[in-house]
Amino acid sequence: MITLKSDREIELIRKNGRIVANTLALMRRHAAPGVTTKELDGIAEDYIRGEGAVPSFLGYGEPPYPAAICTSVNEAVVHGVPDGRALQEGDIVGIDVGASSGGFHGDGAATLPIGRIDDETGRLLAATQAALAAGIAKALPGGRLGDVSAAIQGAAEDAGFSVVRALVGHGIGREMHEAPQIPNYGRAGRGVRLKTGMVLALEPMINIGTYEVELLDDEWTIVTADRTLSAHFEHTVAITEDGPVILTVADPEFLDQ
Ligand code: MF3
Ligand code: CO
Repeated sequence: MITLKSDREIELIRKNGRIVANTLALMRRHAAPGVTTKELDGIAEDYIRGEGAVPSFLGYGEPPYPAAICTSVNEAVVHGVPDGRALQEGDIVGIDVGASSGGFHGDGAATLPIGRIDDETGRLLAATQAALAAGIAKALPGGRLGDVSAAIQGAAEDAGFSVVRALVGHGIGREMHEAPQIPNYGRAGRGVRLKTGMVLALEPMINIGTYEVELLDDEWTIVTADRTLSAHFEHTVAITEDGPVILTVADPEFLDQ
């Protein structure tokens, strides 16, 4: 069942979305050659708790997720676990952040370049961000979920990249993962009808090579089957009468630095 959120509930999700987006901006500031993903995790957790929220991912699932954020380097698609690995010039790192307070969650992600990256990698990041934007633009009352999925897939594949099938976006609210599941591929005009009050975490995962993925032995990290690079961007989005509203928005002072 898809729960519709009231304006008051959407404001609570937006508070968490703001903390998530500010955390991502902090990560952009700190992610540099020589910095470990564990250091990024510590900075993120301190910020989230300092804002009076709790990291949504810590302890989630089975085995319990062991960190505050996910840090997915290069061929890691999502759910990379922070560790002592130092980032290197030319890497990309997908940072995924969830925050919870007031009984609701916010969820967002961005893939960051470390120093200079090569042209194809830059195109992958741009295409994944553009695919997310194309999906958000279709999050309209009266539309269909398939409109969102098809827009994401079209943008990614038109750029020459492949869409991960095995993982999906999701509804979000009192739970981090609510109905509906949102594939990043599909057909326009199909699927459930979109309504004002739905809040969706849209999160395309886009690969340079095959869309097939594998789970590593740590039971969390998902990597591309062919070990080519993968990118991931995510926003929490409310469907309103006035159209899609992104709830994972940073404060201006976080963006300027
Ligand atoms: N944004 C991801 C998701 O929606 C992050 C989950 S990480 C986990 O699934 F550890 F919490 F699973
Ligand atoms: Co998510």
